[in-house]
Amino acid sequence: DIPVAEAAKTASKTLPDAQTVTAVKHWTDSLFSFRVTRPASLRFRSGEFVMIGLLGDNGKPLLRAYSIASPNWDEELEFYSIKVPDGPLTSKLQHIQPGDEIILRPKPVGTLVLDALLPGKRLWFLATGTGIAPFASLMRDPETYERYEQVIMMHTCRTAEELTYGRELVENLKHDPLLGEIYGEDFANRLVYYPTTTREESPLMGRITDNLTSGKVFTDLGLPPISPETDRAMVCGSLAFNVDVKAVLEGFGLHEGANSEPREFVVEKAFVGDGV
Ligand code: FAD
Ligand code: A2P
Repeated sequence: DIPVAEAAKTASKTLPDAQTVTAVKHWTDSLFSFRVTRPASLRFRSGEFVMIGLLGDNGKPLLRAYSIASPNWDEELEFYSIKVPDGPLTSKLQHIQPGDEIILRPKPVGTLVLDALLPGKRLWFLATGTGIAPFASLMRDPETYERYEQVIMMHTCRTAEELTYGRELVENLKHDPLLGEIYGEDFANRLVYYPTTTREESPLMGRITDNLTSGKVFTDLGLPPISPETDRAMVCGSLAFNVDVKAVLEGFGLHEGANSEPREFVVEKAFVGDGV
C-alpha cells in the first residue's frame, strides 16, 4: 500500500524539478512575464540566473538560462521572457497557464551580483530588451539601496510598448510602502529611471551607448559624468550591446570585475545570439 500523501506527491511531480506556474502576464506580442512556486531550499543572490524549461517532444528536458526577475526575499520566482516565434523553448513556454508545471534547476549562478562590484555612490543598470530581468530583481532588493545612494536604471528598446514591464515595475517600486517606510519619501529620488526607444518616438530617445558618450543622460538627469571614484555599473543586453557598452565604460575609466575580483562594472549576456 502506498500512503495517500506519498501517492499524491508522486502524481503531482510529473516533471523533474517541477514548479507550478502561479501567474502569467502578456505585455506585447513578443514579451510576457510569469511567476512560479519557489523551491523551499532555493537560495539565490538577486541578479542571478537559473536553467528553466519544459519537457521536449523527445521526452527530455528542454532548458534555457533565465534571469530571476524577482528579488531574493520574494516567496515566488518571477521571470520575464521573450517569445521567439520558432524558438524551441519559447514557442511552447509562451502558452503556459497558471497551474501548469515548468522545470527549474535550482542552481543559481551569474555575474550581475552586488558582491562583484566595489562599493560606490551611484549604481547604473544598463539594459536592452529582456536584459532588464536581472535588474527587476536587484531594483526590488533593499540591499541595493543599502550599498548605493542612487540607482539609475537605463533601459532601451526599439518601441515604447516594449518598455512597459520595466516602467510599471519602477512606478510600483517608487510607491512601495515597505521601501518608503525604510527610506522615507526620499526613496523616489534614489531610484532614477531613464527609458529610451530607438525606432519609435517617445519622450526620451537613443541608444544607451550614444546617450552616455554624448553626455545627454547626465544633462537630462542633472548628474555628473560617470567616474571610477563614484560610479559602478551592471550591463545586460545582446552581445553587440555588451561589447559596445563595455568600451564606453572603459572610456570613463571603469574596469570589468567578477565574483572573484570585484571592480567597477560587470556584464552578462541577456541571450546567446545567432552565430555566437
Ligand atoms: P533559442 O534557440 O534559445 O534562441 C533563438 C534565437 O532567439 C537566438 O539565437 C537569439 O537570436 C534570439 N533570442 C533568444 N533569447 C532572446 C532574448 N531574450 N531577447 C532577444 N532575442 C532573443 N531570455 C529571456 O527571455 N529572459 C531572460 O531572463 C533570459 N535570461 C538569460 C540569461 C542568460 C545568462 C542567457 C545566456 C540567456 C538568457 N535568456 C533569457 C535567453 C534564453 O536562454 C533563451 O535563449 C530564450 O528563452 C529563447 O529560447 P528558445 O529556445 O525559444 O530559442
Ligand atoms: P537600435 O534600434 O538602434 O538597433 P535588439 O532588438 O536588436 O536586440 O535591440 C534592442 C535595443 O538595443 C534597440 O533599441 C537597439 O537599438 C539597441 N541596441 C542594439 N545593439 C546595440 C548596440 N550595439 N549598442 C547600443 N544599443 C544597441
